[in-house]
Amino acid sequence: MKFIVVSCCLALLMGCNQSSVTTVEESSEQKNIRDLLELPAHISTPAIPEYNPLTEQKIKLGRFLFYEKDLSANQTQSCSSCHFQELAFSDGVATPFGSTGHQLTRNSQGLANVVYHSTFTWSNNGFLELEDQLNVPIRADNPIELGVTDSNIEEVLARFDNDPDYVAMFAEAFPDSDSGASINKIIFSLASFLRTMISANSAYDQYLLGDTAALTEQQKLGFSLFNGEKFECFHCHTGNNFSVSYRDSNTTEDTIQYPFFNNGLYNVDGQGSYPSEDQGLYDLTLDPADRGMFRPQSLRNIELTAPYMHDGSIATLREVIEHYARGGRLIENGPNAGDGNLSPLKSGLILPFETTDEEIDAVIAFLESLTDYEFINNPKFSDPFEE
Ligand code: HEC
Ligand code: HEC
Repeated sequence: MKFIVVSCCLALLMGCNQSSVTTVEESSEQKNIRDLLELPAHISTPAIPEYNPLTEQKIKLGRFLFYEKDLSANQTQSCSSCHFQELAFSDGVATPFGSTGHQLTRNSQGLANVVYHSTFTWSNNGFLELEDQLNVPIRADNPIELGVTDSNIEEVLARFDNDPDYVAMFAEAFPDSDSGASINKIIFSLASFLRTMISANSAYDQYLLGDTAALTEQQKLGFSLFNGEKFECFHCHTGNNFSVSYRDSNTTEDTIQYPFFNNGLYNVDGQGSYPSEDQGLYDLTLDPADRGMFRPQSLRNIELTAPYMHDGSIATLREVIEHYARGGRLIENGPNAGDGNLSPLKSGLILPFETTDEEIDAVIAFLESLTDYEFINNPKFSDPFEE
């Protein structure tokens, strides 16, 4: 299955590089993106919105801003307060606290290969570009993350306008616009930096590129179980980024999907409801069928991004797989008690299956082959203030 996907991408890429008259322009643009991102051959070219082309200057500014505490109103938090490079840009806690002490209801997502998702956050069918989503951490008031509001925005922007290093970086990143910082320039630069966070050098990638010894026999067994009709994982976690929420420069309007699924995590009322503080897509659409609908998360670097699920309510990969093998999670006591396996809203792909400890170990070992040590140690993504 994976091989088919990968070879399609390669064929498409090679097709583009063998320039015919109609594709010359597009392919040179794609080549620039590939060079800038240093993409290995088996990774497809991401889709970059035309209104925010990637440039080295924006990427550089975005990297500084990602680690910049002055971007929070009270100067206590930066993006990196909840997205740590050593954890593939997740943070290791179930749900983090924002800059003013509010606890968020959702788990901080890892950011590896975020550019390849077709929607952003755990569950939002309206965030189709990173530029749409990034207002949230900066400006949202419920829950507060960085806490920038109408009343303090001028003060926050003045911090950048009064700093000669930032004045220069903003001017270099946006040479054609008026001088000075703005929220849009900040968002465009952060989005550009996030798009460079490509993870493509795990043992699994080396295996795909032809090193058959890069995976152990146990990991190869886990790979085939993951892609088999008993475990069913690949239906929702497939392709290069292990998510059907996927897009790249070859995705067209006709082929793009915006998938959300209820994977049987909760069933608090026997009708498939999730805890009222977060019912996924339903909280946006108010369509009862959307209760518990979340985006299938990428599984790249999944070993590092525990705890799991939108609310961080599953501690280990073993428990994740046990949840799927049961056909949904059973919570016996407390306010969220209920049997996810009996949820009328869970996806038809979440069905109980018989398995063994050996098989579960193999799938875990395969998932661990997606850990990319180069990514978590890559100086391109590290804190520039520590250089
Ligand atoms: C207080 C903790 C916190 C801070 C600070 C924070 N984030 Fe996040 N981030 C989260 C959480 C929690 C989510 C999941 C949000 C959701 O699903 O609604 C998330 C989601 C994201 C996503 C979506 C990932 C995906 O796969 O769709 C991106 C991108 C992101 N954050 C980037 C940033 C950037 C850039 C900043 C700084 C401007 C930032 N975050 C600041 C906690 C934080
Ligand atoms: C019907 C689609 C579907 C299938 C099949 C499926 N998943 Fe998922 N997976 C999801 C969704 C949706 C989420 C996020 C759910 C949430 O947060 O409430 C998820 C979350 C996860 C997570 C947690 C991700 C994170 O960052 O916290 C892991 C790990 C995972 N799945 C592994 C698997 C494995 C292993 C299998 C096969 C046994 C599997 N999935 C089968 C849809 C699916």
